[in-house]
Amino acid sequence: MYDFAADLTDCANEVEGGLARLLQLERLSGPGAAPERLVAAMRHGALAGGKRLRPLLVRQAAAIFGVKPEASLPAGLAVECVHCYSLIHDDLPAMDDDDLRRGRPTVHRAYDEATAILAGDALLTHAFGLLADPACHPDPAVRTQLIIELVAGSGVGGMAGGQMRDLEGERGGFADGDIAAMQAMKTGALIRAAVRIGALLGGADDAALGKLTTYAEAAGRAFQLADDILDVTATPETLGKATGKDAGKNKATLVASLGLEAAKRHLGETVYEALAALSSFGPEADGLRATARYFASRDS
Ligand code: IPE
Ligand code: IPE
Ligand code: MG
Ligand code: MG
Ligand code: MG
Repeated sequence: MYDFAADLTDCANEVEGGLARLLQLERLSGPGAAPERLVAAMRHGALAGGKRLRPLLVRQAAAIFGVKPEASLPAGLAVECVHCYSLIHDDLPAMDDDDLRRGRPTVHRAYDEATAILAGDALLTHAFGLLADPACHPDPAVRTQLIIELVAGSGVGGMAGGQMRDLEGERGGFADGDIAAMQAMKTGALIRAAVRIGALLGGADDAALGKLTTYAEAAGRAFQLADDILDVTATPETLGKATGKDAGKNKATLVASLGLEAAKRHLGETVYEALAALSSFGPEADGLRATARYFASRDS
């Protein structure tokens, strides 16, 4: 029987340990020595906290094809580095201007804005080094595919572009379709990349990859919808970040456009879509099924 709570906890512990090992002064030094303050800021942004859901998706998608958790960990760490970078930059005064993240001061509050920008840059760059490393997968052709996936997920047609649209949305005038497109990019694209990277690590064929991509796109929509609902319904204590921020910044969200109750109904339907995409898989996809359900039921 698949145990979601155990999978979630094991994955979080392994990601924490893996990042703590990787993000060390000696390991990060290149042609020059890594500056201590920058490494400390990277560690502040990447360690101690976070649900580690993107590495969990890598691990669960890879597990469908029999890949062991330890073999999918390096790719999961790469995706988490990009995620942590995105949070550091998302919190900057020029973007969402937040002081609290994962129950602690944001990186620019704990250090300063310039250091936070550079810590994000360094985590982003580091991610691609992890995917290019033979420890990630023995076959260089597979490693190249993984890199291409992470570029698509994090770049201008993915997360970075979605963050741009999110800021444009603050000025108003977004229809529901624009909101959905923006969210598919700012949040969905990296979740999609996490699932596809896991599948590619396992050598998925095109048919399986297609179904898992449909799953990931629905799961990504559910994830951001839940994030927007929690911004209205949760407390900063449980969430570890400020609440009520989206309305305060006039963010274009489906909660604002549909209302809270309709948004909750839509969340249920979206999780159902994610589950339906997995219908041809057996118990080997129970991890992904449980994670999609968790996306809608989580309270942090
Ligand atoms: C928050 O992501 C940012 C969004 C994409 C909505 P998570 O809720 O996964 O944040 P952590 O990593 O658990 O802190
Ligand atoms: C963040 O969306 C998306 C990315 C970081 C790419 P939000 O701005 O809603 O995330 P939170 O609520 O600050 O975690
Ligand atoms: Mg934001
Ligand atoms: Mg934000
Ligand atoms: Mg949010």
